[in-house]
Amino acid sequence: MGPPRTAPDVGGRHPGWPARLGTLRVAAGTVTLRPIRMRDGAAWSRLRLRDVHHLQPWEPTSPGTWVERHSLLAWPPQLVSLRAMARHGQALPFAIMLDGRFCGQFTVGNIVRGALLSAWIGYWVASDAIGGGVATAATALGVDHCLGPVGLHRVEATVRPENLASRRVLAKLGFREEGLHERYLEVGGSWRDHLVYALTVEDAPDGLVTRLVRAGRAQLA
Ligand code: ACO
Repeated sequence: MGPPRTAPDVGGRHPGWPARLGTLRVAAGTVTLRPIRMRDGAAWSRLRLRDVHHLQPWEPTSPGTWVERHSLLAWPPQLVSLRAMARHGQALPFAIMLDGRFCGQFTVGNIVRGALLSAWIGYWVASDAIGGGVATAATALGVDHCLGPVGLHRVEATVRPENLASRRVLAKLGFREEGLHERYLEVGGSWRDHLVYALTVEDAPDGLVTRLVRAGRAQLA
Protein backbone atom coordinates (compact mmCIF):
# COMPACT_ATOMS: atom_id res chain seq x y z
CA MET A 1 0.00 0.00 0.00
CA GLY A 2 1.34 3.48 -0.90
CA PRO A 3 1.51 6.49 1.40
CA PRO A 4 -1.85 7.96 2.47
CA ARG A 5 -3.04 10.70 0.06
CA THR A 6 -5.24 12.33 2.67
CA ALA A 7 -2.93 13.29 5.54
CA PRO A 8 0.45 14.91 6.25
CA ASP A 9 3.42 12.56 6.30
CA VAL A 10 4.89 11.25 9.53
CA GLY A 11 7.13 14.29 9.96
CA GLY A 12 4.08 16.56 10.06
CA ARG A 13 5.06 17.99 6.65
CA HIS A 14 2.55 18.15 3.88
CA PRO A 15 3.34 16.27 0.70
CA GLY A 16 4.91 18.36 -2.04
CA TRP A 17 5.95 21.33 0.11
CA PRO A 18 8.37 23.00 0.11
CA ALA A 19 9.49 22.18 -3.43
CA ARG A 20 11.46 23.60 -6.30
CA LEU A 21 9.93 22.39 -9.54
CA GLY A 22 11.49 21.50 -12.88
CA THR A 23 12.48 23.98 -15.55
CA LEU A 24 10.94 24.57 -18.97
CA ARG A 25 12.30 26.57 -21.87
CA VAL A 26 9.69 28.62 -23.75
CA ALA A 27 9.84 31.57 -26.15
CA ALA A 28 10.20 34.09 -23.30
CA GLY A 29 13.09 32.22 -21.66
CA THR A 30 13.59 29.62 -18.94
CA VAL A 31 10.71 29.19 -16.48
CA THR A 32 10.69 27.54 -13.09
CA LEU A 33 8.66 27.69 -9.86
CA ARG A 34 10.07 27.92 -6.34
CA PRO A 35 8.53 28.88 -2.98
CA ILE A 36 8.11 32.65 -2.44
CA ARG A 37 10.77 34.28 -0.23
CA MET A 38 11.16 37.39 1.89
CA ARG A 39 13.62 38.83 -0.62
CA ASP A 40 11.02 38.67 -3.41
CA GLY A 41 9.42 41.72 -1.78
CA ALA A 42 11.27 44.39 -3.76
CA ALA A 43 10.54 42.84 -7.16
CA TRP A 44 6.98 41.95 -6.16
CA SER A 45 6.23 45.52 -5.03
CA ARG A 46 7.90 47.15 -8.05
CA LEU A 47 6.13 44.95 -10.61
CA ARG A 48 2.72 45.03 -8.93
CA LEU A 49 2.78 48.85 -8.54
CA ARG A 50 3.92 49.33 -12.14
CA ASP A 51 1.39 46.84 -13.54
CA VAL A 52 -1.76 48.09 -11.80
CA HIS A 53 -3.71 48.39 -15.08
CA HIS A 54 -2.56 44.96 -16.28
CA LEU A 55 -3.48 43.18 -13.02
CA GLN A 56 -6.28 45.01 -11.24
CA PRO A 57 -9.14 44.11 -13.65
CA TRP A 58 -8.80 40.44 -12.72
CA GLU A 59 -8.13 40.57 -8.99
CA PRO A 60 -10.60 40.28 -6.11
CA THR A 61 -11.64 43.44 -4.29
CA SER A 62 -9.54 43.88 -1.13
CA PRO A 63 -9.37 46.51 1.59
CA GLY A 64 -7.02 49.47 1.02
CA THR A 65 -5.75 51.14 -2.14
CA TRP A 66 -3.60 49.32 -4.71
CA VAL A 67 -0.58 51.37 -3.60
CA GLU A 68 -1.11 50.49 0.07
CA ARG A 69 -1.58 46.82 -0.72
CA HIS A 70 1.60 46.64 -2.83
CA SER A 71 4.08 48.74 -0.90
CA LEU A 72 7.25 47.00 0.20
CA LEU A 73 5.79 46.87 3.71
CA ALA A 74 2.81 44.87 2.48
CA TRP A 75 4.98 41.90 1.42
CA PRO A 76 6.09 40.48 4.82
CA PRO A 77 2.55 40.00 6.18
CA GLN A 78 1.45 38.40 2.89
CA LEU A 79 4.45 36.11 2.90
CA VAL A 80 3.89 35.10 6.51
CA SER A 81 0.21 34.41 5.90
CA LEU A 82 0.86 32.36 2.74
CA ARG A 83 3.67 30.42 4.40
CA ALA A 84 1.43 29.61 7.37
CA MET A 85 -1.18 28.26 4.96
CA ALA A 86 1.54 26.22 3.23
CA ARG A 87 2.68 24.81 6.59
CA HIS A 88 -0.89 23.73 7.28
CA GLY A 89 -1.20 22.08 3.88
CA GLN A 90 -3.79 24.59 2.66
CA ALA A 91 -1.80 26.45 -0.02
CA LEU A 92 1.34 26.29 -2.20
CA PRO A 93 2.65 29.82 -2.87
CA PHE A 94 5.21 29.75 -5.69
CA ALA A 95 7.22 32.50 -7.35
CA ILE A 96 7.43 32.27 -11.14
CA MET A 97 11.07 32.71 -12.13
CA LEU A 98 11.99 33.71 -15.70
CA ASP A 99 15.70 33.40 -16.49
CA GLY A 100 16.34 33.55 -12.74
CA ARG A 101 14.25 36.70 -12.17
CA PHE A 102 11.01 36.96 -10.18
CA CYS A 103 8.30 37.70 -12.76
CA GLY A 104 5.02 36.61 -11.18
CA GLN A 105 3.26 34.18 -8.90
CA PHE A 106 1.58 30.81 -9.22
CA THR A 107 -0.53 29.99 -6.18
CA VAL A 108 -2.44 26.86 -5.27
CA GLY A 109 -5.15 27.58 -2.72
CA ASN A 110 -8.00 25.99 -0.81
CA ILE A 111 -6.38 22.58 -0.79
CA VAL A 112 -8.99 20.16 0.48
CA ARG A 113 -8.11 16.54 1.11
CA GLY A 114 -10.39 13.70 2.21
CA ALA A 115 -12.60 12.45 -0.59
CA LEU A 116 -12.26 15.71 -2.57
CA LEU A 117 -8.46 16.07 -3.04
CA SER A 118 -8.95 19.37 -4.82
CA ALA A 119 -7.58 22.92 -5.00
CA TRP A 120 -7.78 26.10 -7.07
CA ILE A 121 -4.91 27.70 -8.97
CA GLY A 122 -4.22 31.38 -9.70
CA TYR A 123 -1.39 33.16 -11.51
CA TRP A 124 -0.10 36.48 -12.76
CA VAL A 125 2.86 37.39 -14.95
CA ALA A 126 4.53 40.82 -15.18
CA SER A 127 3.50 42.86 -18.22
CA ASP A 128 7.01 42.84 -19.72
CA ALA A 129 7.11 39.02 -19.65
CA ILE A 130 3.73 38.17 -21.18
CA GLY A 131 3.03 36.56 -24.54
CA GLY A 132 5.98 34.18 -24.46
CA GLY A 133 4.50 31.12 -22.79
CA VAL A 134 5.49 31.91 -19.19
CA ALA A 135 2.07 31.41 -17.58
CA THR A 136 1.43 28.25 -19.61
CA ALA A 137 4.78 26.75 -18.57
CA ALA A 138 4.30 27.77 -14.93
CA THR A 139 0.81 26.25 -14.88
CA ALA A 140 2.02 23.01 -16.45
CA LEU A 141 4.77 22.70 -13.84
CA GLY A 142 2.46 23.64 -10.96
CA VAL A 143 -0.43 21.41 -11.96
CA ASP A 144 1.83 18.38 -12.53
CA HIS A 145 3.17 18.98 -9.01
CA CYS A 146 -0.38 19.15 -7.59
CA LEU A 147 -1.53 15.98 -9.35
CA GLY A 148 1.77 14.20 -8.58
CA PRO A 149 3.72 14.77 -5.34
CA VAL A 150 0.97 16.78 -3.63
CA GLY A 151 -1.48 13.95 -4.31
CA LEU A 152 -4.49 15.94 -5.50
CA HIS A 153 -7.10 14.55 -7.86
CA ARG A 154 -8.60 17.76 -9.26
CA VAL A 155 -7.35 21.28 -9.96
CA GLU A 156 -9.73 24.12 -10.72
CA ALA A 157 -9.34 27.63 -12.13
CA THR A 158 -11.96 30.36 -12.26
CA VAL A 159 -11.58 33.10 -14.88
CA ARG A 160 -13.63 36.10 -15.95
CA PRO A 161 -15.05 35.45 -19.44
CA GLU A 162 -13.36 38.69 -20.62
CA ASN A 163 -9.91 37.39 -19.62
CA LEU A 164 -9.02 35.91 -22.99
CA ALA A 165 -5.31 35.53 -22.24
CA SER A 166 -5.95 33.45 -19.13
CA ARG A 167 -8.60 31.36 -20.89
CA ARG A 168 -6.09 30.67 -23.64
CA VAL A 169 -3.50 29.50 -21.07
CA LEU A 170 -5.98 26.96 -19.72
CA ALA A 171 -7.18 25.91 -23.18
CA LYS A 172 -3.61 25.28 -24.37
CA LEU A 173 -3.11 22.94 -21.40
CA GLY A 174 -6.34 21.03 -22.02
CA PHE A 175 -8.38 22.27 -19.06
CA ARG A 176 -12.09 21.51 -19.43
CA GLU A 177 -14.53 24.43 -19.34
CA GLU A 178 -17.19 23.24 -16.91
CA GLY A 179 -19.59 26.15 -16.66
CA LEU A 180 -20.28 29.63 -15.42
CA HIS A 181 -20.40 30.74 -11.79
CA GLU A 182 -22.70 33.77 -11.83
CA ARG A 183 -21.72 36.77 -9.68
CA TYR A 184 -18.94 34.57 -8.26
CA LEU A 185 -16.25 37.00 -7.10
CA GLU A 186 -16.12 40.68 -6.25
CA VAL A 187 -13.68 42.35 -8.64
CA GLY A 188 -13.31 46.12 -8.83
CA GLY A 189 -16.30 46.56 -6.52
CA SER A 190 -18.78 44.47 -8.60
CA TRP A 191 -19.77 40.82 -8.44
CA ARG A 192 -18.37 39.27 -11.61
CA ASP A 193 -19.30 36.05 -13.39
CA HIS A 194 -16.44 33.54 -13.69
CA LEU A 195 -15.99 30.54 -15.96
CA VAL A 196 -14.83 27.45 -14.14
CA TYR A 197 -12.15 25.28 -15.71
CA ALA A 198 -10.92 22.00 -14.25
CA LEU A 199 -8.61 19.10 -14.82
CA THR A 200 -8.45 15.76 -13.03
CA VAL A 201 -5.69 13.16 -12.94
CA GLU A 202 -7.55 11.11 -15.56
CA ASP A 203 -7.44 14.03 -18.03
CA ALA A 204 -3.64 14.18 -18.10
CA PRO A 205 -2.18 10.71 -17.49
CA ASP A 206 1.26 11.77 -18.79
CA GLY A 207 1.15 15.23 -17.22
CA LEU A 208 0.89 18.72 -18.63
CA VAL A 209 4.62 19.25 -19.06
CA THR A 210 4.75 16.25 -21.39
CA ARG A 211 1.68 17.59 -23.18
CA LEU A 212 3.36 20.98 -23.74
CA VAL A 213 6.63 19.45 -24.90
CA ARG A 214 4.84 17.09 -27.31
CA ALA A 215 2.90 20.07 -28.70
CA GLY A 216 6.22 21.83 -29.35
CA ARG A 217 5.30 24.67 -26.98
CA ALA A 218 8.11 24.04 -24.47
CA GLN A 219 11.35 22.16 -24.07
CA LEU A 220 12.72 20.51 -20.96
CA ALA A 221 15.67 22.58 -19.75
N1 ACO B 1 -7.17 37.44 -26.86
C1 ACO B 1 -6.89 36.16 -27.18
N2 ACO B 1 -5.72 35.54 -26.81
C2 ACO B 1 -4.83 36.29 -26.13
C3 ACO B 1 -5.06 37.63 -25.76
C4 ACO B 1 -6.30 38.20 -26.17
N3 ACO B 1 -6.60 39.46 -25.85
N4 ACO B 1 -3.99 38.09 -25.09
C5 ACO B 1 -3.10 37.08 -25.04
N5 ACO B 1 -3.61 36.01 -25.67
C6 ACO B 1 -3.00 34.68 -25.84
C7 ACO B 1 -1.55 34.72 -26.25
O1 ACO B 1 -1.42 34.91 -27.64
C8 ACO B 1 -1.13 33.32 -25.79
O2 ACO B 1 -1.63 32.33 -26.64
P1 ACO B 1 -0.70 31.64 -27.81
O3 ACO B 1 0.46 31.01 -27.10
O4 ACO B 1 -1.62 30.66 -28.45
O5 ACO B 1 -0.27 32.76 -28.70
C9 ACO B 1 -1.90 33.17 -24.49
O6 ACO B 1 -3.00 34.08 -24.57
C10 ACO B 1 -1.07 33.52 -23.27
O7 ACO B 1 -0.23 32.43 -22.97
P2 ACO B 1 1.14 32.66 -22.16
O8 ACO B 1 2.11 33.42 -23.01
O9 ACO B 1 1.57 31.36 -21.60
O10 ACO B 1 0.64 33.55 -20.93
P3 ACO B 1 1.37 34.86 -20.34
O11 ACO B 1 2.69 34.51 -19.80
O12 ACO B 1 1.26 35.93 -21.36
O13 ACO B 1 0.40 35.18 -19.08
C11 ACO B 1 -1.59 35.91 -18.00
C12 ACO B 1 -1.01 35.20 -19.23
C13 ACO B 1 -1.19 35.18 -16.73
C14 ACO B 1 -3.11 35.87 -18.12
C15 ACO B 1 -1.06 37.38 -17.95
O14 ACO B 1 -1.55 38.08 -19.07
C16 ACO B 1 -1.48 38.12 -16.68
O15 ACO B 1 -0.79 38.06 -15.68
N6 ACO B 1 -2.62 38.82 -16.74
C17 ACO B 1 -3.08 39.63 -15.62
C18 ACO B 1 -3.45 38.77 -14.40
C19 ACO B 1 -4.38 37.65 -14.76
O16 ACO B 1 -5.26 37.78 -15.60
N7 ACO B 1 -4.18 36.48 -14.12
C20 ACO B 1 -5.02 35.31 -14.37
C21 ACO B 1 -6.27 35.42 -13.57
S1 ACO B 1 -7.30 33.96 -13.76
C22 ACO B 1 -6.49 32.76 -12.88
O17 ACO B 1 -5.55 33.05 -12.13
C23 ACO B 1 -6.99 31.32 -13.00
